[in-house]
Amino acid sequence: MSLPELPLLDSFGRLHNNLRISITDRCNIRCFYCMPAEGLRFLPRRQLLSYEEIARVVGVLARAGVDRVRLTGGEPLVRAEVDGLVRLLKAIPQIREVAMTTNAVRLAKHAETLRRAGLDRLNISLDALRPETFARITRRDVLPEVLAGIAAAQAAGFSRIRLNAVAIRGLTEEEVLPLAAFALERGLELRFIEYMPLDSDGEWTDQQVLSGQAIRDLVAAEYGPVEPVPGTDPSQPARDFTYAGGRGRLGLIQPVTQPFCATCNRLRLTAEGQLRNCLFSVEEWDLRQPLREGADDAALLAVVRDCVAAKRPGHLIGQQDFVRPLRTMHQIGG
Ligand code: GTP
Ligand code: 5AD
Ligand code: SF4
Repeated sequence: MSLPELPLLDSFGRLHNNLRISITDRCNIRCFYCMPAEGLRFLPRRQLLSYEEIARVVGVLARAGVDRVRLTGGEPLVRAEVDGLVRLLKAIPQIREVAMTTNAVRLAKHAETLRRAGLDRLNISLDALRPETFARITRRDVLPEVLAGIAAAQAAGFSRIRLNAVAIRGLTEEEVLPLAAFALERGLELRFIEYMPLDSDGEWTDQQVLSGQAIRDLVAAEYGPVEPVPGTDPSQPARDFTYAGGRGRLGLIQPVTQPFCATCNRLRLTAEGQLRNCLFSVEEWDLRQPLREGADDAALLAVVRDCVAAKRPGHLIGQQDFVRPLRTMHQIGG
């Protein structure tokens, strides 16, 4: 399909068709790998892009080839009437998929409405099934709400639901097999994510990374061969496998031990309208001010192109030149 505008190609030949949109920096839990326990100062409402402003940005990006968007946070479901935003985005003709990443605490209440608004896919964070481990990670006691949210999402008819578990050495090894059994029983895809240095306490060390390979070994020891799934989308961060004789589906997201930057197709929009070309960007491109000053589509697209043109080949986790981004995960959206 030819586009009305040139596609968003960076200087390393990567095409950008995927936008992750953080719609709020607030969250109703406090995972230590993402947020500090206290002392948080959230953005005042007027600094957030409105849903209309977000849809305007997506409409502009769609003209240059963005066809998939994912709503994140903070926790997206703490912002009111997210289904209204889903409807606005689904009405943009080029957008093929609108997905959401959520902690599911409020999902039981919203699953049905989101499905009716046209939300295509849900990825749900669930790091642990033991209440003590869950509470240690999230600093909240809401595992029953999350489990109810997952059940409600399935009942509402969402398919291809993915569970995201951040894998932390010394903390979540014992969660791997219970999560594998839980996902297998319910027909959910289970993905483990290597812990990245985006925690707000700045306490990450590589010693805490439970590698994808270690997880693969744990699953294989219990369920037999873990086999790669051929032909998965090379731009998705997860490498996909099957387990339990092909009945279970396992994804490994290995940004630390197997970086996937060479196939990165993502841009990120923060809740206050800053565009980032990488999870680890130290620079941002402001779209909110031009938006609010009445910039036309060409002017907005010029900002987007500057951002894409400045994209680096990849992150430098584990290398001497690595610089932690100023923002932590709850402000970027994962
Ligand atoms: P799918 O469309 O289902 O492939 O979604 P996704 O995996 O892109 O989205 P999700 O929000 O579920 O991502 C899970 C986690 O993977 C994120 O929170 C990050 O921790 C990590 N991740 C996703 N995209 C990137 C990326 O571009 N770079 C890095 N380093 N990590 C990423
Ligand atoms: N490292 C890896 N994954 C993280 N997430 C949040 N912080 C980190 C981190 N430091 C994941 C969450 C959720 C997604 C939005 O980001 O588990 O699945
Ligand atoms: Fe893309 Fe940056 Fe993630 Fe690498 S670290 S995959 S360049 S967003």
